[in-house]
Amino acid sequence: MTAQEIRQKYLDYYKERGHNVIARAQLVPYNDPTTLFTGSGMQPLLPYLLGEVHPDGSRLVDSQTCLRAQDIEEVGDNRHTTFFEMLGNWSLGDYFKQDQLPWVFSFLVDEVGLDPHKLYVTCFQGDAANNIPKDTEAADIWRNLFDRRGIEAREVEVGSEENGYQVGVPEGGRIFFYDASKNWWCRGGKIGDMPVGEPGGPDSEIFYEFDFIEHDTKWGPKCHPNCDCGRFMEIGNSVFMEYVRRETGFEKLPKQNVDFGGGLERIAAAKLNSPDVFKISILQPIIAKLEEISGKSYDSHTESMRVIADHLRASAFLAVDGTAPSNKTQGYVMRRLMRRAIRFAFDLGIEQNFVEQVVPVIADLYANDYPEVRGNRERVIEVLVKEEKAFRQTLRKGLQMMQKLSASGLSGEEIFALYDTYGFPVELSTEEAFKQNISLSENWRQEFDVKMAEQRQRSQTAAKGTFKGGLGGQTLQHKKYHTATHLMYQALRTVLGDHVIQHGSNITEERLRFDFSHSEKMTPEQIKQVEDIVNEQIAKDLAVTWEEHPTSYAINELHVLGAFGDRYGDIVKCYRMQAASEDKPFSFEICGGPHVDHTGQLAEEGKSFKILKEESSSAGIRRIKAVLQ
Ligand code: ALA
Repeated sequence: MTAQEIRQKYLDYYKERGHNVIARAQLVPYNDPTTLFTGSGMQPLLPYLLGEVHPDGSRLVDSQTCLRAQDIEEVGDNRHTTFFEMLGNWSLGDYFKQDQLPWVFSFLVDEVGLDPHKLYVTCFQGDAANNIPKDTEAADIWRNLFDRRGIEAREVEVGSEENGYQVGVPEGGRIFFYDASKNWWCRGGKIGDMPVGEPGGPDSEIFYEFDFIEHDTKWGPKCHPNCDCGRFMEIGNSVFMEYVRRETGFEKLPKQNVDFGGGLERIAAAKLNSPDVFKISILQPIIAKLEEISGKSYDSHTESMRVIADHLRASAFLAVDGTAPSNKTQGYVMRRLMRRAIRFAFDLGIEQNFVEQVVPVIADLYANDYPEVRGNRERVIEVLVKEEKAFRQTLRKGLQMMQKLSASGLSGEEIFALYDTYGFPVELSTEEAFKQNISLSENWRQEFDVKMAEQRQRSQTAAKGTFKGGLGGQTLQHKKYHTATHLMYQALRTVLGDHVIQHGSNITEERLRFDFSHSEKMTPEQIKQVEDIVNEQIAKDLAVTWEEHPTSYAINELHVLGAFGDRYGDIVKCYRMQAASEDKPFSFEICGGPHVDHTGQLAEEGKSFKILKEESSSAGIRRIKAVLQ
């Protein structure tokens, strides 16, 4: 049974049970500024889960294309993909657990043909602090369902994930109770971080067991359904969305909803009894094409082929949905996906015209089921080919750059710069250095790894949706001006008042420019005061560090400053500038970075902060240009 057949069977199955099939939402959400991509089936349906009437009724089914850019670095193992399809069925105040669980069980066992002995389920343990009871109802339903198939289904109290490694899977254990970290679903994931008005509920996950995979004790002593060793793979999740967060705690929603999400790719892999999702009918042909054009085998180049297959498929769907590679927001993620795919293709020895050979294979896999893929085929190929060409040109420039750098040998930082700016794979730099007889610094690998770790933190944050406009580059000079901008923002609020809100920021290597709300011209005294405060904070050599927080918590509880009109994801990165001797930060701001490590760096070469110009930008908005000189 192919993945395509499973998708169709699922839609038909729920149609027979009174559901209307709805079209997938695009990967880029229209009217949800809180997130860059559609990452689950329920996201586009949120208003209806909260009580709005859906035009297609109270029973809906679909296959939602999803993109989880935060998983980009995980791709390469046997089951992570950034792009995937989530099979979804919804009850909008219609049926509840008593129908949902038997239906999904029967779909998996009777329609797809999975062996029920290989299915394990989890239920919510309850949460005393939030007054939400244990989900014994779901467990009772499951026990019955397994019973009727002649399968013993004992309940196992687990609690936390960590405890799972102690408890393992006892004889006959089939229904596992976990705490809210595993069996509570809401956008953002954590029960404690739900903002007022956010819906959520207990959920019940279904796992498929690959019984031939030996547990790997590096994860913990014993294997359990939520262990990451690969023996168990989550294939579906029924969320019983019946709560909403209010000021005073949790309340029941006026109606009980069901939000089911099942990973199409994973269900198809379970059907093949293959822990490797790249073997399924909508991924394997891409791998086969890569084998054909590279002359290399999947077995010997597994990771590279997985990354390429995933990233090109994701890029193709982004192009179908109207995104083009660029330097910001969704386009930035798309560019990153494309460039990673092309870099990994280097490993396979594929150095040109790669996209135009592979993308048609992807388009063919989806053309029958998604008319928009068929209709946009040529345009999608064009968009992706253009990016490939641009990137290859960049690579050529990188090679030239490398020749210039090479006079005194290459350091790890330079190899990183080649990687970061020109997308040069490390192996390419080192091989090229070898070919050209260029020496490498002794610690180049360590130097590179340090830079890489910093970059990973930055890009993960970007992928989560924290984008801050106006930051042009990442040289030391940019970083200094960026840090100076934060100091000045706080100083302006101190001198002028809390009505000062950032409206825009633009940084070059020569100066910073900053727009903010304030209706009068600043006096020379005020300007001097702001300069003095900034210079004082530079002299204090504040440590510049960052931490991540859920957005609403950062803004409402920690009172971290944000910029007006900026779009934030669920999690934001917050930069703290604080003196070691003080218990409160001078500046604390939502920002993607990067910054210098400590503010004293701004005074290097005897420089100090100076405002050159303060002028009107538009009604009620002032503009400052300032320098370190
Ligand atoms: N909304 C649920 C999930 O994404 C089904 O897991």
